[in-house]
Amino acid sequence: MKILVVGNGGREHALAWKMAQDPANHMIFCAPGNAGTAQCATNIPIRADDLEGLREWAVTEGPDLTVIGPEAPLCGGLTDLLEAEGLRVFGPSKAAAQLEGSKIFAKEIMLAAGVPTARAEFFTELDQALAYVERQGVPLVIKADGLAAGKGVAVCSTLEEAREAVQSMLGRGAFGEAGRRILIEECLQGEEVSILAFVDGEHIVTLASSQDHKRAYDGDKGPNTGGMGAYSPAMIVREELWPLIRKNVFEKTITELKRRGIVYRGVLYAGLMMTADGPRVLEFNCRFGDPETQVIIPRLASELVPAFEACIDGTLNNDLVHWHPETAVCVVIASGGYPGDYISGYPIQGLDDVAEMRDVVVFHAGTAERDGPVVTAGGRVLGVTAMGADLETAISEAYRAVTGIEFTDAFHREDIAWRELERRQEDQ
Ligand code: AMP
Ligand code: GLY
Repeated sequence: MKILVVGNGGREHALAWKMAQDPANHMIFCAPGNAGTAQCATNIPIRADDLEGLREWAVTEGPDLTVIGPEAPLCGGLTDLLEAEGLRVFGPSKAAAQLEGSKIFAKEIMLAAGVPTARAEFFTELDQALAYVERQGVPLVIKADGLAAGKGVAVCSTLEEAREAVQSMLGRGAFGEAGRRILIEECLQGEEVSILAFVDGEHIVTLASSQDHKRAYDGDKGPNTGGMGAYSPAMIVREELWPLIRKNVFEKTITELKRRGIVYRGVLYAGLMMTADGPRVLEFNCRFGDPETQVIIPRLASELVPAFEACIDGTLNNDLVHWHPETAVCVVIASGGYPGDYISGYPIQGLDDVAEMRDVVVFHAGTAERDGPVVTAGGRVLGVTAMGADLETAISEAYRAVTGIEFTDAFHREDIAWRELERRQEDQ
């Protein structure tokens, strides 16, 4: 098959890497891709948000399947554009992608469907929002309605922080159109976990659980990032919780969307808070998580393409998705300064040696090839994933590989999977 993967992160490298292993010998293209996708696919120089450029390429080249990684093209309607040309696309329509594109839309769906989530109010007027903050008191969570590159959420533990967040969004237009409407939400307590599911409009197949590490530094300190590492499975999702999550989160959401005439096809990502009262939805994403994909995909024993096709055709079933029992741990190596400003273009050493390690795979995120050597080209540069028979082995192998990779000002967290380690020690 001829397959187009849209995006250039670790997520897209993991998806292309996996599909490249299929016995069917697919011809894979990645737009725009990175130095990692170049090893298993042909990169084409079209940005993921250049919808018209992608449409033109797809019309000319006629891929049998297009897999869209990031939220921007999904929320921008790339699926609809390509489907209108008669092409097959894995990824929700623009209407369905609103689950991520508008936090107010997602909250309305959850409330209407009875999905467990934080209580929230919506505001467009500064005065009303500020008055609500004073009435509620802290802690509170203030969210811009639209896409804000992961920066549109402020978890506020003081009134000053809450006032400032409201002022910046509604008063000073910090996120432009995306922050013209805001949500002020009850602050939930607990541990976060990511649950993804394949959805074909009707059927739901949940994928392996995982946990991201959003803060930049060890001990969950420092600014929020796109994710500094992940592991799978996350055993906080105990066996008995799965039917509950399936029904109360995924089934109810898909059914409510359908009631409104919206069919969800693709992967649906639920960010859950495991509260004392059970799982609550913090957010929906209309795509695979990053770095979650870098630990989920290596654990997937079955092929991806048949599952993607079943999502498109409405023939999804559990037999299409099987897992390796091993634990996977991914440590992200980032550019010094990330998530703030950083310098790109540093040569990366050690990739060839680490490529020889069994049970380790290095997914590229912000990398490029410049006349031979692979150089840094983004904030998150690499996701180093190791598989192990147990968590401890996966952690030590991942860090052994990380130690073998060097570039100027590189940094990573040393404590990926610490919650799971603590949990295991408590259980013993
Ligand atoms: P979101 O983009 O909605 O997932 O928000 C980003 C991060 O903010 C989440 O991963 C949580 O860490 C935090 N967050 C969002 N909503 C809440 C909430 N209601 N209570 C506590 N933390 C939250
Ligand atoms: N790792 C969080 C996300 O993909 O949104």
